[in-house]
Amino acid sequence: MSTTEPAHPVLSLRGVAFERAGRSILRSVDWEVGEGQRWVVLGPNGCGKTTLARIATMWEHPSGGEIELLGERLGNTDVRSLRRRVSLVSAAMADMVRPALTALEVVVCARFAALEPWWHSYSDADMERAAAMLADQGLADFSGRAFGTLSSGERQRVLLARAVMSRPEFLVLDEPSAGLDLAGREQLLERLDVLASDPGAAPTVLVTHHVEEIPPSYTHVLALREGRTLASGPLDDTLSDELLSACFGLSVRLDRHDSPSGVRYSARQDR
Ligand SMILES: Nc1ncnc2c1ncn2[C@@H]1O[C@H](COP(=O)(O)OP(=O)(O)OP(=O)(O)O)[C@@H](O)[C@H]1O
Ligand SMILES: [Mg+2]
Repeated sequence: MSTTEPAHPVLSLRGVAFERAGRSILRSVDWEVGEGQRWVVLGPNGCGKTTLARIATMWEHPSGGEIELLGERLGNTDVRSLRRRVSLVSAAMADMVRPALTALEVVVCARFAALEPWWHSYSDADMERAAAMLADQGLADFSGRAFGTLSSGERQRVLLARAVMSRPEFLVLDEPSAGLDLAGREQLLERLDVLASDPGAAPTVLVTHHVEEIPPSYTHVLALREGRTLASGPLDDTLSDELLSACFGLSVRLDRHDSPSGVRYSARQDR
């Protein structure tokens, strides 16, 4: 695995800071995401992961630093049109979906970056693509089901189908496994690996607290603590007992498990 910096990063952050209510929430974050990379952003509650995810997708404006996304520099570009080229999936977005919408409607309305289907008309190709995205998530039989009647795991997979509907050039998933049981988490990880196996897959960032939630197809990790970068680089070289211990503030033992689909991780307190 290459450790060199990508020649043309999809996302580049230099010295990014974020302050609110007199508090420093992110401090001097440098980060480059390249084509073909899939990053995990790891860190404890409140360390700034969601803030970073929102800044990286242009939903939040940093207090300082420089950002380039998809070749456009923040400050010299229309952020609304740039946002249409990226997808952010988060709990906040799930809460905005009207529960009566069908799974198919939730997916197809991403075609126009909308949360309701009625302001736009959709071509047969749009409907077919939405159905195919649901099928890719193992939800072919769920297209007519109301979003509000789906389980948490099924909803997450609908949101993932929605996230890729518009062919984003950069995909950010903020804690997609939150609230899922073991089977739901494993299904979601498998679907993330399936997405990643597409040769045209967008570079992706997955925010999580848990190394158990790192899909085998993921390549890099950025570890945050109290708004600062502790480490960033290829997973194999970067993730360690020492890094996790520093990140979560307790003595942690990391275990690697080889599986047919790649490396999985687990962690526990080292007593
Ligand atoms: N707009 C804001 N105003 C004030 N404080 C904020 C704002 N946005 C975030 N914060 C604070 O910044 C810190 C980082 O928040 P953030 O949501 O980015 O953390 P996180 O790493 O995603 O946490 P979690 O793992 O719990 O989701 C928190 O202490 C939060 O209360
Ligand atoms: Mg968060």
